[in-house]
Amino acid sequence: MTQDLQIDFTDPAFQADPHPVYAHWRRTGPVTRTRLPSGLTAWLVTRYEDARRALADPRLSKQSAFSVGSSATANRPSGPAAVLSRHMLAVDPPDHTRLRRLVSAAFTARRIEELRPRIEEITHDLLDAVEGRDRADLIDTFAFPLPIQVICELLGVPADDRDAFRAWSNVIVAGSQSGDRLEPAIRAMVSYILALLAERRAHPGEDLLSGLIHVRDEGDRLSEAELSSMVFLLLIAGHETTVNLIGNGTFLLLAERERWERLRAEPALLPTAIEEFLRYEGPVETSTFRVATEDLEIGGVTIAAGDPVVVVLLSANRDGDRFAGADELRLDRTQNAHLAFGHGIHYCLGAPLARLEAQVAFTALLNRHPGLRLAIPPEDLRWRPGLLLRGLETLPVRL
Ligand code: HEM
Repeated sequence: MTQDLQIDFTDPAFQADPHPVYAHWRRTGPVTRTRLPSGLTAWLVTRYEDARRALADPRLSKQSAFSVGSSATANRPSGPAAVLSRHMLAVDPPDHTRLRRLVSAAFTARRIEELRPRIEEITHDLLDAVEGRDRADLIDTFAFPLPIQVICELLGVPADDRDAFRAWSNVIVAGSQSGDRLEPAIRAMVSYILALLAERRAHPGEDLLSGLIHVRDEGDRLSEAELSSMVFLLLIAGHETTVNLIGNGTFLLLAERERWERLRAEPALLPTAIEEFLRYEGPVETSTFRVATEDLEIGGVTIAAGDPVVVVLLSANRDGDRFAGADELRLDRTQNAHLAFGHGIHYCLGAPLARLEAQVAFTALLNRHPGLRLAIPPEDLRWRPGLLLRGLETLPVRL
């Protein structure tokens, strides 16, 4: 089917629960052309098998997302944003391979596991800070600062800058829904990253940032724009995603108390529970967009060369043709090849880090706050705007 569907993505009802809309699309128009909040018209891919194939299809280009197709060029970054857009998630091989290889050693499961003691320390410090309080916003006090602090330490970003960075980052990932605030946030982010690089160039350390500057200055493996873009991508990815895994997961556990109690009684279920949070209410709603480099077919629909394509990860992960009882949250689900971290060459580099942070965070919450509960009714919670990420604005809890 090739119908054009219109939906108001900014409608709070859609933001509160987009799943019924996606279920309808999977049934009636699994590959659907629609106008995104950014104004760009793209094909949305909503079924699991189509999604998985599309994510691994080399004819769907990232690079072209910024160069081919009249509609896509509207999104080509210009001005200050250009120095943030030469990262691995915006390019194809061989550039992608080169850029990813430069940092992949720092993100292997083994290297990440070495961070466990430090992640535990940060987690407990954050929980110590709310100790004795009756209520707290778990997003603001815990789910956000934990991954931010970890990625900042890994990269070597000073603690003082984190609040400003977080504010710009929030505005940037909400994209066009941030309205007039978007351009100033991009400009502020660019100046910040350039100043950070200049400072670290003058005073190198042992961190990843210094390592990348060294690679840049010692050879021709990394351009200056690729360096600033890499820092931007790692910081944004570290800021904006794991927060939703911790936030959405905690919400799902507290919204139905028996889930929380079961996980307390059977902590060995935590790894499968985390995978199930990723599948059931994943932190990333849609993939970044790709562009067809030639006419191709997805799910029986012809996509013309130049057309942008977006994979709806949230929808693919609820596809009943792939997951038994797809709309049920099963903490012990073992067959769970979800697409929450993407698929193919752009599969999330930070997946081992995100999984470890979530493990440490949920273990600490379950042990230190056995009586944790929502402080407001679930239906009063607000979800963040924008189609890219799926997460709560706040999560008020009683400690
Ligand atoms: C639960 C948390 C996370 C989720 C759900 C997530 C999800 C994703 C997804 C879906 C993609 C692919 C997007 C696409 O193909 O369009 C991706 C790519 C990426 N993620 Fe994550 N991510 C998470 C955490 C992190 C963290 C903590 C980092 C840390 C640095 C990170 C770094 C990256 C990078 C660098 C890429 C680009 C990889 C490439 O292009 O080869 N992510 N992530």
